[in-house]
Amino acid sequence: MSTEILGGPSALPFGIAPTGFTRLMQTEGESAGASAAGAAGIPFTLSTLGTTSIEDVKKANPNGRNWFQLYVMRDREISYGLARRAAEAGFDTLQFTVDTPVAGARLRDKRNGFSIPPQLTLGTIINAIPRPWWWYDFLTTPKLEFASLSTTGGTVGELLNAAMDPTISYDDLDIIREIWPGKIVVKGVQNVEDSKRLIDAGVDGIILSNHGGRQLDRAPIPFRLLPEVVREVGKDATVMVDTGIMNGADIVASVALGAKFTLIGRAYLYGLMAGGREGVDRTIAILRSEIERTMQLLGVAALAELEPKHVTQLTRLMPLAGAPAEAVGGGAPRVRAVSGSSARAPKASATTKKESEARPKASAKS
Ligand SMILES: Cc1cc2nc3c(=O)[nH]c(=O)nc-3n(C[C@H](O)[C@H](O)[C@H](O)COP(=O)(O)O)c2cc1C
Repeated sequence: MSTEILGGPSALPFGIAPTGFTRLMQTEGESAGASAAGAAGIPFTLSTLGTTSIEDVKKANPNGRNWFQLYVMRDREISYGLARRAAEAGFDTLQFTVDTPVAGARLRDKRNGFSIPPQLTLGTIINAIPRPWWWYDFLTTPKLEFASLSTTGGTVGELLNAAMDPTISYDDLDIIREIWPGKIVVKGVQNVEDSKRLIDAGVDGIILSNHGGRQLDRAPIPFRLLPEVVREVGKDATVMVDTGIMNGADIVASVALGAKFTLIGRAYLYGLMAGGREGVDRTIAILRSEIERTMQLLGVAALAELEPKHVTQLTRLMPLAGAPAEAVGGGAPRVRAVSGSSARAPKASATTKKESEARPKASAKS
């Protein structure tokens, strides 16, 4: 089940995706993720919006592979400074996220009054009354804040809108290339044209991702794009995929359709929330055993033996119009089904509300 990805080994065909404000989910946060990834021999990605510093992630995973996810901000020097620090700390791959020119609507955050730093609302207090261990944790662990950015506070959407540069373009790749000595991959690619253009531009890889449905909530489903992207960019290009991976069979199906690697976001966070470091270990162990069993049931002994014929995508989830059958890996029904369950549609919702005018400021922390 081991594989080579971006110039190094991974014991499993998946790694941990970047997630912001991870210590909000559980106090151990990125340290638990990084150390569990290191122990399992898979890469860990730290987000620009992480709640653990670059150096502390390196301490948690000193011998394993650490990757850094970069948001290009209005104040470019903040982003470039973080990239330089990550390079100095030995992070070997940079994920340049391009699906966040502005924040997604995140209506539930607004409804729930969720902000960074989190505020103690009446609802929070009522919720916490029967949970004394929550109070203990809240009062005895370091304050929840971004590790690398200072903010004046606001909802996640407001912070993202204030911090991110919506004008990022292909030109930014050239600048990042000068700063970053390691591998560069672009995360959040959502169509075939961009995939081709990026591979032609010489990036080391692309991640088909719709951010777990957190940005444009009607964005294309990455798993569905995979076969056509792989066909267009060639099977040697490093195409990776995330979004909706909740089972090892989703990983097997992605590899069978040509993905070189996959990333998990929420699956990792659920483990973290359930049990800190042990919970992340358990997530990885569950996925490992699901991959193994799925491969055994398919009769394949190695990842390299997986082929599109091992996957059946559910017809009812296929796009209805405008897309040729081959664009979704369709055509004749396939034999030896692996569920296409990673192709969960992101939830659709409509908003007519305007984003807040308020623009909290973000700046680098030393
Ligand atoms: C709570 C949360 C925070 C996230 N923060 C970031 C981030 O800071 N940068 C980024 O590139 N992606 C971020 N993502 C997206 C993940 O990297 C990944 O693309 C996504 O979670 C994959 O979908 P999945 O959660 O279904 O596995 C975040 C996802 C979640 C769930």
